[in-house]
Amino acid sequence: MARHNKTILITMSRTPIIAANWKMNIGPAEAKEFLAAFKNEITCECKAVDKVIVPPFITIPAVMEVLNGCTCVGVGAQDVSDRDNGAFTGEISTTMLNELGCKYVVLGHSERRQYHGETNAYINKKIKKALAAGIIPIYCIGETLEQREGGQLETVLKSQVVEGLEGLTAEEVAGLVIAYEPVWAIGTGKTASAADAQDAHAFIRGVIAATFGQDAADKVRLQYGGSVKPGNAAELMSQPDIDGALVGGAALKADSFAAIIKAAV
Ligand code: PGA
Repeated sequence: MARHNKTILITMSRTPIIAANWKMNIGPAEAKEFLAAFKNEITCECKAVDKVIVPPFITIPAVMEVLNGCTCVGVGAQDVSDRDNGAFTGEISTTMLNELGCKYVVLGHSERRQYHGETNAYINKKIKKALAAGIIPIYCIGETLEQREGGQLETVLKSQVVEGLEGLTAEEVAGLVIAYEPVWAIGTGKTASAADAQDAHAFIRGVIAATFGQDAADKVRLQYGGSVKPGNAAELMSQPDIDGALVGGAALKADSFAAIIKAAV
């Protein structure tokens, strides 16, 4: 894969964004304990980094209660419906997320693609719904080990970008967060090397430039996800096309999530 050189200037104009994807962990009571510890860890120097917590739906009100209007930490949801409201058992609407004050929504996570059959086209509808409601999608893409070893990396990433973002304006794409998460690195302890991760991010930015223009490509923030830990965060984050991280396991404890944030400063 060709390496793309980006200037430090461009990298620095994108505010790093570190998000904690709690997945199906941490209920309301535990979230309050997490935030009490997290507040002690995070100080003003971290203002240079956008920090996001993405709890299970049922934990969101507890997180909002502790944050008490503080905008230092953004809150996201792990999914949202592509419908407005009505007879859709188990679904949550953008209106409901807005009522709670959610700024972000994770969409197209590989676990939803894998266990819930979500396709690029279906995720595209959710992305449009979120944007229409003023909620920033954190759009997840990434290849399986089989696809990588079969030489499908670029084809898979390109179709996830082009089909998932189909119909969006360049301005909308510029405001997105895209998380590149190689499926084989999620929850496995195996991280992509910083060079491999950088190559994939540069490729994704190149696809965005070709599809939506250079300005959107320069502005869109790309996170790396997949076994990010305090020990590997700084090296990943120092890559020119990596603007942050989507963190699962290592974001379940306040001290390790805070250490990853500090690595991005
Ligand atoms: P992990 O999860 O950090 O536990 O690998 C990342 C993710 O799935 O977002």
